[in-house]
Amino acid sequence: MVEPKKFYLSYNQIHKTVKRLSIEIGNAGYNPDVIVAIGTGGFIPARMLKTYINKPIYTVGISYYDENNKPKDAPEKVQWIDEVESKLEGKKILLVDEVDDSRITLEYCLRELLRHNPLEISVAVLHNKNKLKEGTIPEEVSHYFVGDELEDLWICYPWDAVDIDEQEIMASVV
Ligand code: G4P
Ligand code: MG
Repeated sequence: MVEPKKFYLSYNQIHKTVKRLSIEIGNAGYNPDVIVAIGTGGFIPARMLKTYINKPIYTVGISYYDENNKPKDAPEKVQWIDEVESKLEGKKILLVDEVDDSRITLEYCLRELLRHNPLEISVAVLHNKNKLKEGTIPEEVSHYFVGDELEDLWICYPWDAVDIDEQEIMASVV
């Protein structure tokens, strides 16, 4: 199997992408009441975003891959916000994740959140891979915010780095 091209990013680069995203969200006039982060990749971006959009963050965990990295039949909730589901009703939600890849997890999560009658829901992702998507963004979603559009490569995020100094060096190579 051909390994996809790797694309390394530093925390600094991601912070700047998040800032740009926050400006885009502000320019669109979208003022969420709550942020929902999809774990684990969405946790750190959501926290960075809170610096610019200071709203409570709820977190959800969805698993779509099994222990052998094979896709399951459907995404499964590994952590869900049962106790706050009722609090989503009538609220403006901003769903945050690091990457829009197949879009399957994103669609699943959006549909689950829509069942709790939010006033409005929008999505923000750091990166969208330009590829054929298996999932779709439901039409109820009012905005889809993207930090950067990328080709279909493997993004190496700094929070996955075992050697953060090496990560920084790789991220600085253009
Ligand atoms: P999508 O709906 O957001 O497109 O997600 P999809 O189901 O296609 O794939 C989800 C998993 O694959 C996510 O992790 C996501 O972080 C990971 N992923 C996809 N492309 C990349 C990439 O280029 N780089 C990295 N580092 N990860 C990628 P997960 O297994 O759901 O959980 P977690 O890793 O966020 O904990
Ligand atoms: Mg991941």
